[in-house]
Amino acid sequence: MESPLRVVTVTEELLDDQERVVSGSFGAAPATGERRERGRRIHGAIADPELKLAALVDDRVVGGASALDMTFTVAPGSTVRAAGLAGVGVDATMTGRGAMRALVEAHLERSADRGYAASLLTASETSLYGRFGYGPATWSAIHEGVTDRLTVKPFDDPGRIDLYQRAADVVDELELVHDRWSAQTVGATARSSPYWEIITGAEETWMGGGPQFAALHLDIDGTPDGYALYKWEPVGDDDGPADQRMVVNELVALDLTAELALFRFVTTVPMIRSLRWRLAPVDPRVRWWLEEQRQLRLVERTDRLWLRILDLPAFVGALRPEEDATVVIELADPLAGHVERLDLSGRWRLRSSGGVVSAERTDTEPGIRTDVATFGALVLGGTPVGRLRAARRLRGDARSVSELERIVHTDRAPFSLTRF
Ligand SMILES: CC(C)(COP(=O)(O)OP(=O)(O)OC[C@H]1O[C@@H](n2cnc3c(N)ncnc32)[C@H](O)[C@@H]1OP(=O)(O)O)[C@@H](O)C(=O)NCCC(=O)NCCS
Repeated sequence: MESPLRVVTVTEELLDDQERVVSGSFGAAPATGERRERGRRIHGAIADPELKLAALVDDRVVGGASALDMTFTVAPGSTVRAAGLAGVGVDATMTGRGAMRALVEAHLERSADRGYAASLLTASETSLYGRFGYGPATWSAIHEGVTDRLTVKPFDDPGRIDLYQRAADVVDELELVHDRWSAQTVGATARSSPYWEIITGAEETWMGGGPQFAALHLDIDGTPDGYALYKWEPVGDDDGPADQRMVVNELVALDLTAELALFRFVTTVPMIRSLRWRLAPVDPRVRWWLEEQRQLRLVERTDRLWLRILDLPAFVGALRPEEDATVVIELADPLAGHVERLDLSGRWRLRSSGGVVSAERTDTEPGIRTDVATFGALVLGGTPVGRLRAARRLRGDARSVSELERIVHTDRAPFSLTRF
């Protein structure tokens, strides 16, 4: 008879098997040779080794999961440590017997033990993670348009743009801009230097990389304050001179002027006929500066970061609302009956006062009832509380809804760029 499933931290001797099973579950052969060594070096520098897990049956690896050690911005200038769950995979011959559940529960328990306030992930399938209390906290979009029709209204830019044909040549400046941007952008995660090797690496992967230009915006003092990473893509007939499409992989700007300048630049490069802006905000500020707003067509809107709160007081304690408010919420947590010590079920009084938020357990009658996943979807302001009430993902009276809105309000939708 098979031994029961167990989850262990990956040791040197399990590493090959864990990688093989996880890459196989995503339809790929494991990396070998130099590629494997580079991947391990980069992953080793950004991941938490204690959270690299293997599920075993009879000492055979049947599944695996990893996690990055992330700094996650919850309010401008205010961060928490979050574990970025990644590479959850189970051998296709061993699915349906609880390996993923065991891996995710072990990930959550260990992350809490290691002081992470939350767990984050990007989901390959959106049906998987609500059962663990993850909710979609940030959204991103792909916008397209014909560049002739994407004229930006006149604005004053005292700065300039420097162009680099290889993003790797300017990686220090990109990193500098991203560091400042991620610290002030709700929903963003910081990127360490090894992560930039993926973004500017020669190989194009789903996390970034491949040949790409970097347009660097500098302010009036010559300090970098924005960048766009992009490539050209021929569209249409292979035999004749092809129309070129501008594919923007990332456009990051510290202020509106840099954003407008970079958008104007990528839409006015000679020979470019159309734009595809990937990993973009759903409602970028530049839309309000276009002569023809409709011409920036939103062709895809997708959930990006899923959030599961582990330590509610620590997490909401990092919010920085401008207004004072108090509300009692009752949460239902799907971890009840599975991982009791992480179960956030019950009543919590959330109070913001002078820009500081506290969360305490209480017996008071709640004004709002919802579940932990829905709370994850609203806590950064990604989906308005009232909208979730209209969709009956949340019950509450109008006053409590507006109190909660005041605690979680952000002017701009939370946004995240980093794939993992
Ligand atoms: C998705 C995957 C990890 C599931 O592994 P598994 O070991 O079969 O999952 P489990 O048996 O532990 O199932 C856990 C729960 O998820 C549910 N579930 C499993 N696969 C599911 C799917 N594809 N869609 C929706 N629910 C699913 C199960 O019904 C079970 O529900 P319950 O525990 O609430 O009763 C596995 O099929 C896989 O490796 N797929 C390819 C890689 C992938 O998509 N990974 C997810 C990365 S984000």
